Parts: sequence; structure tokens; C-alpha cells
Amino acid sequence: MNVRSAWLDTKNIALLGFMTAGKSRVGQALALRTGLPLRDVDLLIEAIERIPIHRIFQEKGEPYFRALESRVLADLCAGSGQIVSLGGGTVLLAENRALLRARCVAVWLGVSVEQVLTRLADPESPRRPLLEGHDPAVLVPQLLGQREAFYAEALGDDGIRVETDGRGIDDLAAEIALRLGLVG
Ligand code: S3P
Repeated sequence: MNVRSAWLDTKNIALLGFMTAGKSRVGQALALRTGLPLRDVDLLIEAIERIPIHRIFQEKGEPYFRALESRVLADLCAGSGQIVSLGGGTVLLAENRALLRARCVAVWLGVSVEQVLTRLADPESPRRPLLEGHDPAVLVPQLLGQREAFYAEALGDDGIRVETDGRGIDDLAAEIALRLGLVG
């Protein structure tokens, strides 16, 4: 189905939230459902650098990654009508949050600490460089606690929060499409 909502002429849909919230997979399902193009910030960064994210962290460091992440986000936000899947830490920089509020209708995929730990334990779960060498049971609650306010701030006035615990990807995409007025 192809959708056209007037606000998509000037804005994008941004999917944000903590690691494992489902930003990339919900983005894929929402793209299929709506016909809107999907841009995944982490995948774009890997395509630019030609190495996986965990190697960018190892070889070039987190500040390098964050600078690239901001640049990719700014380029995407210059356009409109796209679904943009973010990394879990894209909201850390105030300038990124301001850009998200100005240029996107943001969807915060909420996830509990317990669900994050369960999802991280899945052998299919990708490597998360920030967690390597740490006990996730200790670090995840700390990071999530620090970041909740940033996710909320990136939502702005027109953003929505969707709870993901125990829910399937298609179910989440259906709820988002409905709440953003993308169906019909
Ligand atoms: C990060 C999350 C990752 C990736 C990078 C940093 C973070 O994306 O951008 O490893 O700071 O939370 P996911 O949220 O898709 O795991």
C-alpha cells in the first residue's frame, strides 16, 4: 500500500529507542506496509565505512562514530517522506534531538530492562560494542536510565511512544501506521 499524508511532504518518520527495541525490524515492516522508503542510520554508517559498527568503535573510537552518526542523520533530515531507523544512542547529542523534533515525527519504541536482557541473549542478536566487556545486567539499567529523558525529549509535541515488550514486529508496525494516520 502506498500512503501519502500531507506532513510527509515536509517531515520524516524517525524510529528511536534503546538497543534491541526493534528500530530496524519495525522500520522494515513499516516500510513494507506503507511503501515509504527506509533509511537505517547504522547500515548507512557501515556502508560509508565498509566495516561493521563494532569495528568502527574498536578501530576509530566512539567519538568518530558519533560524529559520523550526526552527519548521516543531518543528511537524512534534509529530506522528507522517509522512515529513518536510528541507533540507540543517536539521541545523545542535543543537536540531534533538536533535528529530530524539527524534521521528524518520532516514534519511541519503549522496552523494559528485562526485555532488553532477554533479547540480547538471543544468539541472533547483533554485537553491541557499548556492552562488550560489561555485565549487561549492570550496564543496561544504567544506560537506559540515563537515556530515557533523551528519548522523551527527541519526541517533541507530535511524537508517540509505543511499548514493545512481548509484542511482534508486525503488530508494532500496524499500531504505528494507525496512530500516525498512515492507513486507509
Ligand atoms: C548504540 C546502539 C547501536 C549502534 C551503536 C551504538 C548505542 O544501535 O548504533 O552500537 O549507543 O546504543 P542499536 O540500537 O540498533 O543496537
